[in-house]
Amino acid sequence: MSRQTKSLLAIAIVTVALTPGPALAQTPTPTPAPKPAAAAKKTPVDCEQVKCLALTFDDGPGKYAGTLLDTLKKYDAKATFFLEGQYVKARPAYVKRMVKEGHEVGNHSYTHPDFTKLEPAAIRNEIQKTQDAVKKAAGVEPKLLRPPYGLVDIQVSDVAAEFGMPIIIWTAGSRDWDTKDVDAIKKQTLAVAEQDGIILMHDWVKQTVDAMPSLIKTLQGKGYHLVTVSDIVKRQNLQPGDAFPLPEGWEN
Ligand code: NI
Repeated sequence: MSRQTKSLLAIAIVTVALTPGPALAQTPTPTPAPKPAAAAKKTPVDCEQVKCLALTFDDGPGKYAGTLLDTLKKYDAKATFFLEGQYVKARPAYVKRMVKEGHEVGNHSYTHPDFTKLEPAAIRNEIQKTQDAVKKAAGVEPKLLRPPYGLVDIQVSDVAAEFGMPIIIWTAGSRDWDTKDVDAIKKQTLAVAEQDGIILMHDWVKQTVDAMPSLIKTLQGKGYHLVTVSDIVKRQNLQPGDAFPLPEGWEN
């Protein structure tokens, strides 16, 4: 085959691959059948009836949030984003999309300080600025607080109570910020996943976002429904200032 023929052939193959054939184009559009995914969205998941798990993403919206949202949408999975106000301000479109696509947004401070080392006024300021930023970006205010590093004390609890918010920690971590390795993140998450679990992850870790399609598929294959934190804690009747899961030595 001459060089020219070869390249013409290559062009022809590419063209065939990219252009829908006449048969495909002329296929009559079938009457749209009700989509199971759409029907499932209308029925809220009842975590008393099915196995639920909440994936939570902290410190964002991170720069890979868009890819993560695409993946969640593809697998009809919901997540909870504990947002850092400074990034809400920087990337408001992601926050708007999170809310629009049925995910939950929580408050994770404005600049990520250790709340247990701050005066109440400073904690209030961190929380309020993030509430305001989320409201501005997406029209809603977070109803859950996750203090930076998951660190809480009585004073943090009191300030959370002023805002009417329970404090959400996690049942287990993916250790994604530490390993930054797709396989390790998948392995660790699958090892700690349990019914009604709340898993800590980060959407600024690229490997977490890269692991997500395969991880979600595997979790769903094991029967997990990926839901928001509020879906999981519905039965806990958490009051403002309560912490869940309870830190060691705590009573709500
Ligand atoms: Ni954090």
